[in-house]
Amino acid sequence: MIKTVATVPYSDQKMGTAGLRRKSKVVIQQNYIENFMQSIFNVIGNLQGKTFVVGGDGRYYNDIAIQKIIKMSAANGVSRLIIGQNGFLSTPAGSNIILKNHADGGFILSASHNPGGPEGDFGIKYSNHTGGQIPSSISDDIYQQTLKISEYKICDCPDIDLSQIGHQEIYGMQIDIIDSVKDYVDMMQQIFDFSSIKQLFQKGFTMRFDAMNAVTGPYAVRIFEDILGAPKGSVVNFKPLPDFGGLHPDPNMVYAKELVNFMYSDNAADFGAANDGDGDRNMILGKNFFVTPSDSLAILTDNFNLIPAYQSGIYGVAKSAATSTSVERVAKAHNIGYYEVPTGWKYFVNLMDSNRITFCGEESFGTGSSHIREKDGIWAVLFWLNIIAKTGKSVSQITTEHWQKYGRSYYVRFDFEGIDTELADTLMLDLENKLPSLSGKEFYGYTISEAKPFIYIDPVDGSSTKNGLIIKFNDGSRIVYRLSGTGSSGATIRIYIERYSKTDINQEPLKMLTELFKIAMSISEIPERTGKHQADVVT
Ligand code: G1P
Ligand code: ZN
Repeated sequence: MIKTVATVPYSDQKMGTAGLRRKSKVVIQQNYIENFMQSIFNVIGNLQGKTFVVGGDGRYYNDIAIQKIIKMSAANGVSRLIIGQNGFLSTPAGSNIILKNHADGGFILSASHNPGGPEGDFGIKYSNHTGGQIPSSISDDIYQQTLKISEYKICDCPDIDLSQIGHQEIYGMQIDIIDSVKDYVDMMQQIFDFSSIKQLFQKGFTMRFDAMNAVTGPYAVRIFEDILGAPKGSVVNFKPLPDFGGLHPDPNMVYAKELVNFMYSDNAADFGAANDGDGDRNMILGKNFFVTPSDSLAILTDNFNLIPAYQSGIYGVAKSAATSTSVERVAKAHNIGYYEVPTGWKYFVNLMDSNRITFCGEESFGTGSSHIREKDGIWAVLFWLNIIAKTGKSVSQITTEHWQKYGRSYYVRFDFEGIDTELADTLMLDLENKLPSLSGKEFYGYTISEAKPFIYIDPVDGSSTKNGLIIKFNDGSRIVYRLSGTGSSGATIRIYIERYSKTDINQEPLKMLTELFKIAMSISEIPERTGKHQADVVT
């Protein structure tokens, strides 16, 4: 039985930096998911012959939303769905399944690193045949659809059992329930030198991986413990829970506190890592040591030839504009392509598809390569383990030697959260208007060399995107301002600050950035306008 159901539009279904992300309370409203999904289907058009991949990070409402998607897919004439067992797929695993099966796209049900549960967030990331999330031109069309949607199609049938791997069919639509982990593990084994990493663990090397009660637990246990031989218990918080056990599954110094405390204690393991809710973010720690994501990207790039899959060379590397310039120096040294894109992984997709880059990364704990079209948390962890296994060096040694060779970008991001949306928009607009007058001005001994919005012209499709405001100083220091595009309510202003030193590499980042932070605050008038004198989150 296929039903056509009348509905009325919601006005807030515009996708942000990575898909649609809203409070769970908003998403569970009547027809909310249905409207959004039908809008996507309407924009795609004819669904005959089309295959989509579906899965999620197991958060609250994953199970209900996935059934809606299955029944709507069948009703709209989709030919085949490939679904992770029990509805589980990490974002990187989903991208791999799309590419491997030449699917037309996929839906990952996740609000990434945002907390889950009835009081938390829910979200949907929509990818196309590239395995990466759709470009803004398509998400704009979908948003327009959501504003005028008047009906949707759905099958009036019982829920599909997702617990058994195998094949089913409803209303002529093929459904394949697959092992959520296997294909991903196979891919990792083709990229990295598993036997070297295995030997590392045999020699007594210790690690702790914190899956933060989210989707990477089963992937991490299989890879690190079962295959690579890390001792049982190396992977913690490995059972995915609908509310992540109350954790905020964002792998950074603030939210991955348990792991950070452990890695800075006397019992620390040799290596520490965490992933986020849907497994695309990573944090890397050594004993008493934290590697910034910007440095991590630079270090991985510098060591590409230690990894079997990249031994024949890499095309180039890209970073988001807000990310520190560490990797730029590595790209120059290796004489490979180098690109700066707006924030959001989707901007890397064209560069990967056109063989301009192999690696890419963002300061927000995202690192990846062209093996898929999403950032990949476990990939980054394996890359580090592979470097350690090949060099015999510790995380801190590898990083310090990198700074000795290239100099160090001191880099910190400051987030001002829960700001009134209109106030934040006005603040950014006023700041943008002020930028032309700042050139040549001096503050606390720092002289501004250039101040302008970051505008990206995609070299492949020519599309233009404006994202953030950049102030550059004569000594190479930079301040970047952006509004977050992943929040579920209110506005977050991000300030990214960087200062480079060729030789002075052992200082405290916050101390090195004291003056630049003051400059960033005073130019933007954040204290006067928001009442905030300090950031809510510093990473
Ligand atoms: C944040 C990060 C960005 C990342 C995105 C999705 O977006 O800053 O780098 O791509 O999450 O993980 P934002 O909230 O800044 O728009
Ligand atoms: Zn994520």
